[in-house]
Amino acid sequence: MSYLRNTWYVAGLADELPADRLLARTLLDEPMVFFRQPDGRVAALADRCAHRFAPLSMGRLCDGGASVQCPYHGLRFDGSGACVHNPHGNGVVPKAAVVRAWPVAERHGLLWLWAGTAPADEALIPDLSDVASAPEHATIRGYLPTACDYRLLADNIMDLTHVDYLHPTSLGNGSVSRARAVVTDLGERSVHVAWRVSGEVAPASFDPHLPTPGQPADQWTEATWTAPCLMRLDVGATPCGAPREQGVRVAALHIATPETAGRCHYWYWSARSFAIGAEANARIRPLIEHAFVHEDKPMLEAQQRRIGDAGFWDLKPVLLNGDAGAVRARRKLDALIAAESNP
Ligand code: FES
Ligand SMILES: [Fe+2]
Repeated sequence: MSYLRNTWYVAGLADELPADRLLARTLLDEPMVFFRQPDGRVAALADRCAHRFAPLSMGRLCDGGASVQCPYHGLRFDGSGACVHNPHGNGVVPKAAVVRAWPVAERHGLLWLWAGTAPADEALIPDLSDVASAPEHATIRGYLPTACDYRLLADNIMDLTHVDYLHPTSLGNGSVSRARAVVTDLGERSVHVAWRVSGEVAPASFDPHLPTPGQPADQWTEATWTAPCLMRLDVGATPCGAPREQGVRVAALHIATPETAGRCHYWYWSARSFAIGAEANARIRPLIEHAFVHEDKPMLEAQQRRIGDAGFWDLKPVLLNGDAGAVRARRKLDALIAAESNP
């Protein structure tokens, strides 16, 4: 499968990787092992020893995280992938005893892996600081491995007309289906789609928190896709005509990274401007997670089973109004991947 290479992919939440852990995770068809080095920086190595190909993730961290020891015959590799210890014979390290290493950056509470051969450019990491810096009791985040092509997640978030059908009792109230989607191109790596309605009472999750509950409100649902598969969703309501800051807002990240052709890693991370507190978080979390775990994930996986190995465009998908943003995102990603293979 062709993936965009010279780009950052989210590899995990920063707190998925404590100092003493070897984290095995396959990204872009490559089994990798992640660990924290003594200075806290994260290393990502091919999870396949250079000697007899044992998974390094079955081994153990040595020297306070400076190296990982292969579980089979004890070679040790440092964060650059170089073998730094050979317990056999005269101890000389064979030249070929090297495993691939990928650059990793830690930013906005996430681990980012640079998948290309061009120099890693941290300036290309999207700015997610507002979500990352929200109070803990205003945020809900989690990891949901999903057996579907990562691009189905972009379709899911960029075409929210599904909420009225897939989430009729929780997220859907008909307002997205009634609103016209306005799609805006944001350069070659990003697309924005907005659904806005005015003059309706906001849904029950927002209305009681507005300064004028029960009154008509301006409401917005906006999704921004950034290549390869990072979606930011901004949803909110404010009294009619009032600035957004007087209303209530949720900013939610939905991030998918390919694991293999038919599987992806999915992280969600939302930050509310209201109902901040441990009790509110405990009440809201299961409602949100129910939709992802019991409604979106089964649908995405069922879609993938029907699609199988076929190419998405080869199946000639019917296009509807609400698809415009999702289709634009797919085409942009296709173009970016094609540009890398035909520079
Ligand atoms: S397989 Fe790793 S040292 Fe032999
Ligand atoms: Fe959904």
